[in-house]
Amino acid sequence: MEEQVKKKKVLSLIQPSGTPTLGNYLGALKNWNEIAEEYDCAFGVADLHAITVRQDPAKFREQIRNMYALLIAIGLDPEKNILFVQSQVPTHAQLAWILDCYTQFGEMSRMTQFKDKSKTHADNVNVGLFAYPALMAADILLYQADLVPVGADQKQHLEIARDIADRFNGIYGQTFTSPEPLFVKEGARVMSLADPTKKMSKSDANPKGFISMLDTPDVIMKKFKSAVTDSDACVKYAEGKDGVNNLMSIYSACTGKSYDAIEAEFAGKGYGDFKVAVAEAAIEELRPVQDKFNQLINERAYLEDCMKQNAEIATKISQRTLDKAMKKIGFYQFKG
Ligand code: TRP
Repeated sequence: MEEQVKKKKVLSLIQPSGTPTLGNYLGALKNWNEIAEEYDCAFGVADLHAITVRQDPAKFREQIRNMYALLIAIGLDPEKNILFVQSQVPTHAQLAWILDCYTQFGEMSRMTQFKDKSKTHADNVNVGLFAYPALMAADILLYQADLVPVGADQKQHLEIARDIADRFNGIYGQTFTSPEPLFVKEGARVMSLADPTKKMSKSDANPKGFISMLDTPDVIMKKFKSAVTDSDACVKYAEGKDGVNNLMSIYSACTGKSYDAIEAEFAGKGYGDFKVAVAEAAIEELRPVQDKFNQLINERAYLEDCMKQNAEIATKISQRTLDKAMKKIGFYQFKG
């Protein structure tokens, strides 16, 4: 048999904090499928990270299951990739504690997300929120991931993961792979439909600003129809036309059409027609994911089987790294 070239390892997790938006999908999640084709992948639901802010227990449980189902629904195969729920793999919390002890207070204090979040959650600036990047480093280093697909907001956290890995390796010899960012083909940067100068966000107080991946076609249509545009009545990509630019970029991401082609298609037509076309494209883009999700979410036994099997595999792989690190530090090892 032909010897297979060893694929690079990629790992990424997503927090189960609400349904991801169309922006999350076009900008990142959709790419995970292509990544899964090319690399040896582990993807996970970062539920341990999610409790750095308070969660309602019943809702949280549901969101974890929904996010897991959604990962399968976007096309990730739980037989071919490792698809796990972070809290179901005990090594993550274990290595995170160890890495806490190899991370300096000063370097953690420089994390911009911590600074931002301690302002927005001023009533709950907990130690977990502060130590969050060490848990993320544990996620990555446990699998000896070579590459991590990250958006701009997580770049600093990936850098600190590298610093922690390099520091540990410097003290004890090669233990962890130092991870690199995986820059994927620039996905669409989708802006709010209500305020196109802001990124589309599921935590937007105005629900008209974002399309959730699980919004029904009716809701999607309504939201696009009320999207902010301008008074030019001209479908053209140009500076100052943030609303129209955003709709064009969504339309382009969903249909593969170029901006030139879109301008030609809507020449002489008003925004009404254009908005309906964009909404229809988004509905079609999300339809297969939603269909699969709706089917899976009723197959609870299947989902739980996937979770269990994958947690077992993930535990087995990550345990090797944890054992190696603990041995180097000098934790007691049984002889027999
Ligand atoms: N912190 C990431 C976020 O909020 C989620 C995450 C947790 C992650 N662990 C990770 C991403 C490991 C990449 C690799 O988006």
